[in-house]
Amino acid sequence: MAESLRIMFLTAEAVPFAKVGGLGDVGGSLPKALRAMGHDVRVFMPAYRNIESGYPGVQSMPLRLDVPTGSGVIQAGAFEGTLPGSEVPVYFIAQQNLLNRENIYGYWDDPYRFAFFSRAAFTLTESIDWQPDVLHAHDWHSAPAIVWLNTAGQGNPRYQDVASVFTIHNLAHQGLTSWNVFDYLQLYTHSLTEEAYGQVNFMARGIYHANIVNTVSPSYAREIMTPEGGVGLDSLLRYRQRDLHGILNGLDYDEWNPATDKRLSHHFDQDSLDQREEARRALQAAVGLPQVPNIPILALISRLDMQKGLDLMGHPIHLLLNGYSGPAQFIVLGTGAAQYEDMFSQLARYHRGKMAAYIGYHAGLAPLIYAGSDMFLMPSLFEPCGLGQMIAMRYGSVPIVRATGGLADTVHDGITGFSFYEFSAGALWDAIQRATYIYNVDPDSWRDIQLNGMNADFSWSRSAQGYRQLYEWAIAQKRYRG
Ligand code: ADP
Ligand code: GLC
Repeated sequence: MAESLRIMFLTAEAVPFAKVGGLGDVGGSLPKALRAMGHDVRVFMPAYRNIESGYPGVQSMPLRLDVPTGSGVIQAGAFEGTLPGSEVPVYFIAQQNLLNRENIYGYWDDPYRFAFFSRAAFTLTESIDWQPDVLHAHDWHSAPAIVWLNTAGQGNPRYQDVASVFTIHNLAHQGLTSWNVFDYLQLYTHSLTEEAYGQVNFMARGIYHANIVNTVSPSYAREIMTPEGGVGLDSLLRYRQRDLHGILNGLDYDEWNPATDKRLSHHFDQDSLDQREEARRALQAAVGLPQVPNIPILALISRLDMQKGLDLMGHPIHLLLNGYSGPAQFIVLGTGAAQYEDMFSQLARYHRGKMAAYIGYHAGLAPLIYAGSDMFLMPSLFEPCGLGQMIAMRYGSVPIVRATGGLADTVHDGITGFSFYEFSAGALWDAIQRATYIYNVDPDSWRDIQLNGMNADFSWSRSAQGYRQLYEWAIAQKRYRG
C-alpha cells in the first residue's frame, strides 16, 4: 500500500531552526525523507526567539490562534517556513510569554510551555483546515499532544480518527510536573502507577496513550524494558511491548557529506581518501595544534552530560596525552555540565600543544572535526541512537564506543570501529590502545576500517520505510481498537 498519509510531526527541535542535540537532526531530516516518499508531512515546533526576531525564509502567518486552556483563551500567532532543500512546511507556534525565549529548554515553566505548544498545534491545524491521519510526537515535550488527543480530543469528531505514534529519543528526560497541567490542558484522566500522587510524567503519558511507541534503535528498545535501563518506566514499557519498536535514525545525506560539505575547505570521499590528509591539516590549523603528520587525532563532540560516559574519560585522556600509546592529539567540542567543562579545560591547559578544548556549541567547527580527526570517542553510559558515531564514520573518523543502545547497533568492533562493553576507564583505555596500535602499525587495516565505515549506509531511506510501517500499524490500531 503506497497511500499518502497526512502526518502532523511535533518536535521541540529541528535543524536548522533549533538544535541542542540529535533530536534536532532527526526533526530536520526524517520529515524530508517522508516527504520524498510522497507523504504530506508537516512539522510543528515552537517559535523561539531566533524565529520571532526574524529568520531568513520564515514568514509570519496572517492568522490569530485562540487557544483554549484552563487559564482562559490564550492568544498565539504562527510563522511558516520550509525545511531547507525541501517543500516540507514548518509551522512555528508563536506566543510572547511562553515560547519567545532565548533557549529551547531550561525554564521552570517548561512543562507548561510545551503543553501550550502541543495544544496550540491542534488549534493551528483547525485554522489552516488541515486534518492529519497521524500525530507523530517526539520526546516528552510533545507528549502533551498525545495525551490530549487520546482524552479531551476524542470529544471532537475532527480528531476521532487520528492515530498516534510516540518516539522516545531519550528516556532520561521525562517532563515531570504537577497535576494542574491537566486542568491547564482541560483534560480528565486517571493517574498512572508511574506517577506519584499529584504528579504528571509526560514521558510515561506518551508511552501510555500513543497507539504505537518507538525508540531510535533496536538495542535501546530492548534495554529500556529492563530495570537497569528503564529509568523507572520499564514495567510500563513491558506492558506496551507489543507496540514498542526500535528504528535506527538516519543522517541527512545532503547535510553530512564529506564530498560536498560547504563548511569544509577540503573535500574527499571513499575514492579520494588521500585528500583527507588536507582536512586533517586544516583541522590542526583551525584549533591551533601543531601540524604533526601520522599521529592519531582523537576527538569528542558531545553534549557534556553524564549520559555520554565522560566520567570514564579523564584518566585515559591523561595517559593518551602523556604518550602511553605513542604520540597523539585530542580535540573536544562540547558544552553542558560544569564539572565536565572544567575537567576538559583543565586537561587542555595541562596538555598544551597536544589538546584543544572548545567549550561551547559551534555548528561550524563540528564538520571540521569529523573530517579531520582519526578517531571519534563515544563511551556513553547509555545511547538511544547516537548520530555522532554515524557522522564520524561517514567522514572517515573511526569511532571508539561503548557497545550500548544505538552504538552497539551501528559500530562493529574491528570492522567499522572499536567497541567495549564494561563501563570502566580501563575498558575505554584498552579500546583506545587497540585503535592507536592498528593506526600506528597497520595502516592498510586502518584504511579498511575507515572505508567500511564510509561505505555503510546511514541514509534515512530504510528507516523512513520503518516509520511508514509504524504509521500504518497505528492507523489500524486506532481503527480496530479505538
Ligand atoms: P545527543 O542527541 O544525545 O546529544 P547525538 O549523537 O544523537 O547525541 O547527536 C548529537 C548531535 O549534536 C550531533 O549532530 C553532534 O555533531 C552535535 N553536537 C553536539 N555537541 C555539539 C557542539 N558542542 N557543537 C556542535 N555540534 C554539537
Ligand atoms: C537523543 C539521544 C541520542 C539520539 C538522539 C536522536 O538526544 O541521546 O542518542 O541519537 O536523541 O534520536
